[in-house]
Amino acid sequence: MNIYQALKNSYLLLNNKSKTYKLDCEILLANSLKLNNRLDLFLNLEKKLTKKEINIFFHSIKERQNFKPISKITKKKEFWNIQIDVSKKVLIPRPETEVLLDLVSKVYNKKSNIEFLDIGCGSGCIALSLLNIFINSKGEAFDISREAVASTNLNLKKNNKSNRVKVFQRDLFKFKTNKKYDLIISNPPYLKSSDYINLEPSIKIFEPKKALVSDTKYGIEFYNHIIIHLKKNLKINGYLAFEIGNNQFIKIQKLLSQNGFVVKSKFKLINNQIRCLLAKKIKNYTLQ
Ligand SMILES: C[S@@+](CC[C@H](N)C(=O)[O-])C[C@H]1O[C@@H](n2cnc3c(N)ncnc32)[C@H](O)[C@@H]1O
Repeated sequence: MNIYQALKNSYLLLNNKSKTYKLDCEILLANSLKLNNRLDLFLNLEKKLTKKEINIFFHSIKERQNFKPISKITKKKEFWNIQIDVSKKVLIPRPETEVLLDLVSKVYNKKSNIEFLDIGCGSGCIALSLLNIFINSKGEAFDISREAVASTNLNLKKNNKSNRVKVFQRDLFKFKTNKKYDLIISNPPYLKSSDYINLEPSIKIFEPKKALVSDTKYGIEFYNHIIIHLKKNLKINGYLAFEIGNNQFIKIQKLLSQNGFVVKSKFKLINNQIRCLLAKKIKNYTLQ
């Protein structure tokens, strides 16, 4: 079987399972052949596959037929130009989270030596990107999940950046420190259980529920806790950067302004929902 035939067969197997079936097949074949670029497939359509390559490829097509996300099959995801290993049980980094980093990248000089705290670090995609954007930065990152801590450590190590971030396992609601940071950043769980029920099977089966669901009425307890209990750990003029869920902005903005913050920038999705925000700490106070 050559590349052309393998692609043709796989298109037939996936076409009623995925809206992006052609792209999926091409990524999976390129990955099975260890090619850097899926376009290399089209330059080598006549190339014969070995038995081993055929087995690997069609096994991955079978996984995709069972809704496994492409990045969980290839075990990697491109994020802010970095290849993030997602082989462990962690959330696959999302494009919206890149927007959060884009907002942060605009408020500091690239050479400034900011010190950050990444809460709920998951794969480590946020911490690693911050280290890349701000070449003199350093920070701390924690997550309640042991797998997430291992994943962040692995990704830092793969990128030779372990010495710039202290990573540890901790529950946000028990976290205490005397340190003062320039930036506290978090993409915490923000879905309600009722939203979770309606997610696609690929997310429900293959991504950790704990990374997605904050089981309260409005799903905002993580933001409340960070704003109220960790504001003392942010320097004056420091920033809080949050990815947030649908219909949460007004409540979070109110709490921010009651606690000495002003929202400096935000990002809206095409459905008009605010997904990311950046707030500056201007005062040390709490409005009772
Ligand atoms: C939406 S994921 C974000 C992961 C990663 N920062 C990203 O942007 O892809 C939320 C993360 O928060 C972690 N988490 C959930 N509850 C937590 C808690 N109580 N304390 C600390 N981390 C928690 C989850 O394990 C998960 O890794």
